Amino acid sequence: MAVFDWSSRFETGIEPADEHHKKLVGMLNDLGDLMLAPQQNREDLQCLFSALFDYARQHFDDEEQLMADYGLDSRHTDAHRKEHAEFVHELELMTQTHSADPHSDFEILYRYLVSWFSFHILGTDHAMARQILRIRSGISAEAALEQELSSSGQGRPALQDALFDLYEAVTAQNRQLHARNKVLENQVSVHCQALETANNKLFEEQQILQAINQQLEQVQTQILKSEKMASIGQLAASVAHEINNPIGFVNSNLGTLKIYLERLFDVLGAYACIEKLIPPGTELAALQSAKQTAELNFLQRDVVDLLTESREGLERVKTIVQDLKDFSRTAEAEWRETDLNHDLDCTLNVIWNEIKFKANIVKDYGDIPRINCIASQISQVFMNLIINASHAIEDFGTITLRTQRQNNLVMVEVTDTGKGMPLEVQSRIFEPFFTTKPAGKGTGLGLSLSYDIIQKHGGHIEVSSAPGEGTSFKVWLPLERKSEPQ
Ligand SMILES: Nc1ncnc2c1ncn2[C@@H]1O[C@H](COP(=O)(O)OP(=O)(O)OP(=O)(O)O)[C@@H](O)[C@H]1O
Ligand SMILES: [Mg+2]
Repeated sequence: MAVFDWSSRFETGIEPADEHHKKLVGMLNDLGDLMLAPQQNREDLQCLFSALFDYARQHFDDEEQLMADYGLDSRHTDAHRKEHAEFVHELELMTQTHSADPHSDFEILYRYLVSWFSFHILGTDHAMARQILRIRSGISAEAALEQELSSSGQGRPALQDALFDLYEAVTAQNRQLHARNKVLENQVSVHCQALETANNKLFEEQQILQAINQQLEQVQTQILKSEKMASIGQLAASVAHEINNPIGFVNSNLGTLKIYLERLFDVLGAYACIEKLIPPGTELAALQSAKQTAELNFLQRDVVDLLTESREGLERVKTIVQDLKDFSRTAEAEWRETDLNHDLDCTLNVIWNEIKFKANIVKDYGDIPRINCIASQISQVFMNLIINASHAIEDFGTITLRTQRQNNLVMVEVTDTGKGMPLEVQSRIFEPFFTTKPAGKGTGLGLSLSYDIIQKHGGHIEVSSAPGEGTSFKVWLPLERKSEPQ
């Protein structure tokens, strides 16, 4: 490491200049010591360097003032000032490099400082000092410079010029390096920006893909659910069909049985008429005891009731089977005219087992016209709404089904006296997979599917609910077909 060894040859004989130079040399040597320390602290080094630059700048100002005070020839002062200014500029560039690059080498900077100060003090400052001394002895500034130029001899100015050239070449190279560095920095930042843009784009595309994926999953679940409904429908239809045949012959047998029994009772009546003709004795007693044991009178009355009840029961089975057949037409995604009051009844019968222990059903059906729709899908909506209503009722409540015509729309309302919904639940109920039911009980698809079905029919659903009071869903459907559900 080059150490600045102060000696008398650096002294100019001008006191303020010498004091400043000594102080600068002292600071340079402190820097040298710090750089030789086994563990360099970059922050300390940076601090000392900037203190040195500040001091150097101050010194240059003072020195320039000194030259002005003595009125030195402008040829010298201009060149001297230019050297100061170039040095300051050089230092600024180097400082920028050092603060931008944490791995930059301080030693080069340090060596540059030592050489520059040695060269400057021994050359330019000494020339200044000699001129000041001459001016002090009464010589004009111009003559002082002339003497300076002629006393430097032949070799010295040439050597100085050569050194200046070298110094300028080094400076020019330094600037070129600095400029190239800047270009590189710019290029890196442009590349970084391009990379960042590409990265952002990738991220956005990933988000879009994720959203599409989610939509696909939803569609897949919807398809699964409607396929499930369709196969349940087909199963129900075939079961209903199978039940129809036995119902038919049981019904007809019951009819025949009634006729046969009537005939038997007629015969028994005839026998009862001749019973009086039997003389009292063992036969008559046996006959009366047999009639008593068989409770013939009761049998005669009850058998009629039994037959009537059986026929009524069978009628109910027939209605349920018919409803099941109507409801189970889920495989038929066809537009047709349908009576929504009748469809509501069918739906209700199909899910009756689930509802009967939870609610009284109040029907308030209006005189509504048949509407054009895909009845199987609309029934699915009714089923979702009625089952949701029964789930919302904790113990036992009421579900009211109301239908009404308003202009060219038909309204079907399902109202329950269940637990109702807070606003934050209400705002999410049509989202696919939103459910407040425990795992396994709800998939959260009922209302989202219903919403889609009604929308595709050109209608809409309204909900109003109050926690603790109940909920009402209104489905509005146009009388005429508006658009094609998929
Ligand atoms: N009548 C209602 N009263 C109170 N809350 C309701 C009512 N209807 C729906 N909800 C709320 O809306 C949520 C979503 O209903 P949706 O029918 O879409 O799904 P789910 O009934 O939870 O499950 P899934 O119908 O798929 O079996 C329900 O979990 C419930 O919190
Ligand atoms: Mg539901």
